[in-house]
Amino acid sequence: MQYRPMAIEDYNAAIQLWQDTAGVRLRDADSREGIARYLERNPGLSWVALDDGRIVGTIMAGHDGKRGYIQHLAVAEDHRRQGIASRLVANCLEALQQAGIIKSHVMILRTNALGEAFWHRLGWQRRSDVELFSFINGGGENV
Ligand SMILES: CC(C)(COP(=O)(O)OP(=O)(O)OC[C@H]1O[C@@H](n2cnc3c(N)ncnc32)[C@H](O)[C@@H]1OP(=O)(O)O)[C@@H](O)C(=O)NCCC(=O)NCCS
Repeated sequence: MQYRPMAIEDYNAAIQLWQDTAGVRLRDADSREGIARYLERNPGLSWVALDDGRIVGTIMAGHDGKRGYIQHLAVAEDHRRQGIASRLVANCLEALQQAGIIKSHVMILRTNALGEAFWHRLGWQRRSDVELFSFINGGGENV
């Protein structure tokens, strides 16, 4: 296995993996342009895992100067339970720490029992004291 920071050249393989992965919800913001902008704003924080050159895992992260935000953690089904996601998270947290960020959040769908088991196992605390509110400036769907 090889791990390296994600580049925009990984987009086609990454989007294929995300489309194949239940638990990853894609929006218009996940267009090539959207991901390119995200990677540019957050250099070195998103990672891919490769097996013989094939992308089998991804994680994306960004921060706002105070908190880190993780998304699009996905590992190909035929590569699960080998510690790949754990390693991707560790790489991501190390890069965030180097950027001065020690606390991070991840949002998962309520229906994602697998994701919940994973984050719980890694020691992440489920929050029951906050509700997430979202607003689409200008309206629209699937933004
Ligand atoms: C969640 C996911 C990323 C885990 O990837 P992975 O590479 O298999 O994870 P790891 O091998 O690092 O697992 C670490 C630990 O998490 C827990 N875990 C992982 N998969 C699990 C499962 N199917 N059931 C229960 N616990 C699980 C285990 O405790 C595991 O340790 P163990 O194998 O020693 O028991 C992968 O299953 C996936 O891509 N799921 C779909 C997308 C998703 O839900 N992403 C998370 C939301 S952001």
